[in-house]
Formats: sequence, structure tokens, C-alpha cells
Amino acid sequence: MRVAVATACANIALVKYWGKRDAALNTPAAGSLSLTLDRLRTFTTVERIDANADALVLDGVAVEGKALARITKFVDLVRGDDPARVRVTSLNTFPTAAGLASSASAFAALAVATADAFERTLTPTELSVLARRGSGSAARSVFGGWAKMNAGAAPDGSDAAAEPLEIGVELAAAIAVANAGEKDVGSTDGMELTRETSPYHAAWIETVERDLPTAIEAARAEDLDRLATIVEGNCLAMHANAMAARPGILYFGPSTLWAIDVVRKLRAAGTPVFFTIDAGPHVVAFTPPAHLDAVAEALIDHPEIATVLTSQMGEGAHAIEAMP
Ligand code: PMV
Repeated sequence: MRVAVATACANIALVKYWGKRDAALNTPAAGSLSLTLDRLRTFTTVERIDANADALVLDGVAVEGKALARITKFVDLVRGDDPARVRVTSLNTFPTAAGLASSASAFAALAVATADAFERTLTPTELSVLARRGSGSAARSVFGGWAKMNAGAAPDGSDAAAEPLEIGVELAAAIAVANAGEKDVGSTDGMELTRETSPYHAAWIETVERDLPTAIEAARAEDLDRLATIVEGNCLAMHANAMAARPGILYFGPSTLWAIDVVRKLRAAGTPVFFTIDAGPHVVAFTPPAHLDAVAEALIDHPEIATVLTSQMGEGAHAIEAMP
């Protein structure tokens, strides 16, 4: 074993993943499309420790319980019968577990660092499959820029992996971070409750299957108007589906509706910009880099928006020499 360090960027989905095919293998019921973002980044070290249990240090704080159990379960996928225990030390450049895609960068970085620590050589597809076992969206963060997740069909989940897409259009993101703590309903519980109880779930999966190829086509054609309609519609359909679960899951906060309105007014006035929202109240506005500052400035002016993070497209997960 060796000490391994890796970094990965989070990603934000333009066509969303919300619903699993197989909960144990963590395979998605449909594909998805995302952009990897450089401002939301995780750095992770995996090293052997002389102990009978793994350890987790997240942003400088030792963490136990559910979060550590999730890490141990993940490391076991690589460790197999090897009795070695590890310490995972992770740093995020953004707030953790607030619906800001922290699990995507976390498990993509952890996949690279764990494989490296146990001296396993994995192909990018195998790394994406491994990252998926930690978090569905993490499969996409193995790759930089535009990434497409394939739902796959193999019973062992070996083809439920992301792939990078060659798409010329550059988009940047302004993320209106709401004043909220950790989210109440995590994505795993939220998607299971939605699948089990929402009357709209089958229609949602069909919506994704339609939106995925058309969003890719619109992006390739650099048709941002068409892409805006697909991405916003897909996001609202995901949330409508979650809202229709019993009990209903509502991730929006007061600033969410305000920010949606700001983005739509900017677009109506001629700025190429569109929004999406994950499992939290934060609105992510995508726009070409030339418009990023103006979009970010328009989004800050709400009492419940703490900050607006701006990001360019990010690189794929990879090994690095040392933590920052
Ligand atoms: O990777 P998970 O299990 O945290 O799920 C991500 C779910 C969304 O962020 C809401 C959508 C997506 O495709 O990233």
C-alpha cells in the first residue's frame, strides 16, 4: 500500500439523475448529463493506519457514525480481503452536504485515491463504476467538462458508467448559495421515497430518456435557447416529482423562486443564461463565461442568499502529489 492523494471537482447535472434501478449496486434508472465545475473541489488522502477500524477526517474534523460507515463500505469494494485499515482525510473548497454536490467530488476523489492506495490500476470506466458505488453523481466527476452518465443494463452494473462528451460550447456557472444548513432529506432517501410514493415517477423517467439526447443535440448545435428550455424543464420536472412524494419533498427555499425569476428575466432581456437546482435551495445559473460576472451580480441581492460562487468548467478526477 502507499499514501495516495487525489482531487476531483463536483459536477452539476443539466439532465438530472433522480431514481435508482438497483439500490444495492447504486445504478441509476436513467442516464444524465452534467458539467464538471472547478470551483467545487475535493482533495482526499487515503493512507494505511495501524488500527482496527477506518478513520475519516472531513475538513479538519474527525467524523464517525453513518458517514464513516459509508466510507468503510466504499473502501471495502477495493480492499477486498486485505486487512489494512485506512484514514481518509478530505478537504472541500465549498460547503458540505447542503445540496451542493459534495458527494460527487468526494467519491470521485475517493475512488482515485483508494484505487491508488491499494495499487490497483483501473480504466476510466472502471473508476467511474467505482465512484458510482459511493454516489451516483460521482461517476460523472471522474471526467472533466461535459459528461454523460449511461444507465447501463448489465446485472452487475459494469456498464452503468459515465463518459466524457466532446461538446464545443463553454459554459460557466454562478451558484446562488442560500443561507441554509445541511439538507433535511439526502438524495438517496429522497430518490427512494420519490420512487416508492410519487405518482409522477414513471413519467419523470420517460422525461429524462427524452431530454438526454435532445439536450446533447442542443448543446452540440450551440443552441442555448433550446438547451435552456430542456434543462429548466428537466429540473422543474425532477422537483415536481419529488414534491409529489408522500410526504412531499420540497428543496426550494424563499430565495430559490426569487433566483429563478432573476435568471428568466435576464434571459428575456437577451442574456444567454438558464438555471438548474439540485437537492437543496441553491440555484445554479449556467451562462457563457463572458456573461458570468453580470449573472453573478444579479443573483446576490437577496437577504437569504449568503454568497454567489462562480465557476468555470473543471477537469476530471486525478492523482496529485500532496494535499494543498
Ligand atoms: O449522487 P447523488 O446520490 O447525491 O444524487 C444526485 C442527485 C442530484 O444532484 C439532485 C441530481 C444529479 O444528477 O446530480
